[in-house]
Amino acid sequence: MIGRLNHVAIAVPDLAAAAALYRDTLGADVGAPQDEPEHGVTVVFITLPNTKIELLHPLGENSPIAGFLEKNPAGGIHHICYEVEDIRAARDRLLEKGARVLGSGQPKIGAHGKPVLFLHPRDFTGTLIELEQA
Ligand code: CO
Repeated sequence: MIGRLNHVAIAVPDLAAAAALYRDTLGADVGAPQDEPEHGVTVVFITLPNTKIELLHPLGENSPIAGFLEKNPAGGIHHICYEVEDIRAARDRLLEKGARVLGSGQPKIGAHGKPVLFLHPRDFTGTLIELEQA
């Protein structure tokens, strides 16, 4: 069911420092910061030949990554995103298998303008999984 790895998202306490690290030390193709108020994050997209890295930093109050950074003050991998062809069919299959879909269970429009869902980390070896309809 799952296809390509779409991105790995890393929550960071200092977005400029993390972007500079990827650009200057690792030599990656690093984009400009983008505010995404609907998702409570500022994102820097890093384009790699086979996938993307997203650096996430809290934006505004009640950011969904604020608690994560409190627990992981140096930053850390927040989630990984796999592509699926049909997000509703994927959700129905997961629910049937007993996995928990976070939130209302309805796909939301994610950072790339495509429908996404998040799956409970306890059901997937401690990793928050995002599914994105490719
Ligand atoms: Co993501």
